Amino acid sequence: MEQTLSIIKPDAVAKGVIGKIFDRFESNGLRIAATKKLQLSRIEAKNFYAVHKERPFFNDLVDFMISGPVVVSVLEGENAMQKNRDLMGATNPKEAKAGTIRADFAENIDANAVHGSDSLENADTEIAFFFASKDIS
Ligand code: CMP
Repeated sequence: MEQTLSIIKPDAVAKGVIGKIFDRFESNGLRIAATKKLQLSRIEAKNFYAVHKERPFFNDLVDFMISGPVVVSVLEGENAMQKNRDLMGATNPKEAKAGTIRADFAENIDANAVHGSDSLENADTEIAFFFASKDIS
């Protein structure tokens, strides 16, 4: 069964909508195979988003991701990677379709409530960044 990585970002954690976002996953065939709440260090956030290190928004992204705790989860299900991205909606919440997580819970392109892996290859890398295989069930 396919797996993908989800991060509930500091804005959504601070708003108290972890449960509402988990409900979106579980109501749409995505099982939570592993989850934990943690505070990213600056080094961890930089490493996690290393693919974006040349982008102009990189420093703001890192600052935002360490501004408070996040919830990282492994989601499992049929087409889990694409399904999670469909549930999240567009990166910019102003462009996200009604009923998506970002349309309902996000403020702007930086504080956009959730992250989800954007390919199966990245899903494997991102899952391994946070979880040992023994902790995924
Ligand atoms: P995420 O899916 O976590 O991946 C990288 C993040 O960078 C993205 O969500 C946005 O929150 C943030 N970001 C800020 N500006 C941009 C931009 N112009 N394009 C893409 N991502 C951006």
